[in-house]
Amino acid sequence: MQINANSLSLQAVNFQKMKVFATKHALNTMLAPFREEHFSLGFVPTMGALHQGHLSLIQSALKDNDCVVVSIFVNPTQFNNASDLDHYPRTLEADLEKLKTLSSSKIVVYAPEPKDIYGETVSKQSFNFDGLEHQMEGKFRPGHFDGVGTVVQRLFEIVQPNNAYFGEKDFQQLAIIRKLVELTKFPVKIVGCPIAREKNGLAMSSRNVRLTEKEQVHVTKIFRTLKASKEKFGTEDATKIKEWVVRQFENDPILTLEYFEISNELTLEPMGQKQDKMKYRAFIAAYVREVRLIDNIALN
Ligand code: PAJ
Repeated sequence: MQINANSLSLQAVNFQKMKVFATKHALNTMLAPFREEHFSLGFVPTMGALHQGHLSLIQSALKDNDCVVVSIFVNPTQFNNASDLDHYPRTLEADLEKLKTLSSSKIVVYAPEPKDIYGETVSKQSFNFDGLEHQMEGKFRPGHFDGVGTVVQRLFEIVQPNNAYFGEKDFQQLAIIRKLVELTKFPVKIVGCPIAREKNGLAMSSRNVRLTEKEQVHVTKIFRTLKASKEKFGTEDATKIKEWVVRQFENDPILTLEYFEISNELTLEPMGQKQDKMKYRAFIAAYVREVRLIDNIALN
């Protein structure tokens, strides 16, 4: 069966017994009895092109909840670059096949068109996330977190989950979602999940499929550099480590470093004087051609 979001306008398709909905109305009609029974509802928002990183979030959600909604929606308002949006992989049928491997009748998929989320006008709200939005990704992807905040708030309103799962791969996004929930007092528990990596250390990402095999091997340098910076963290100060990292990428034939930062885990501000009880993390963003990769590591 050929499945795309348009063919889902029938409202619900049973994809080999998996429930797939294209509208919030159909989704909520299905969920109503669950809500009446006070079943716990887990939620994993994604933009599709699912990989083991996404599946690990879904597995955590399945452990904790009676029912898990997985949304698959390439959110236009969080892309600050039209070409990135155009090239973002859209693989709904393959995604549903992957979800089937979790063989769970507890999974419900919500795969809407923009209209179901945004109505006639696709636009984003402007948020104040107490400065979290101005660091790192916020500096290089203007408006990105307004788009993320807008869609996640909308998705929370539609799905009304008890627990929602986000990956530490996008650590800044996770911090911003926690802040969004604090500000809106939305009654949902946010669960952060560890970064899933390939055997060679590369953080799994929907964007990795855009790299050649040679590039995929080369970009393992990103994680190697993060690990080396963690080792240096015990003995060297942040400025020295940053300079060292910049030098590692200076003449790289494939990777262009966008930023490397050592930041306070709570405020995401660049580390100043090291404070004893504070947690720090190293963050990196780099390009291979126009493909942007990010990763991070806990330093202490
Ligand atoms: P997407 O990039 O599809 O990621 C969906 C979720 O999977 C995010 O919480 C992300 O952090 C997590 N994830 C991605 N790669 C991971 C990995 N290697 N290990 C662990 N978790 C990983 O993030 C988004 O979509 C969007 O911004 C979204 C929140 C859906 C809003 O549109």
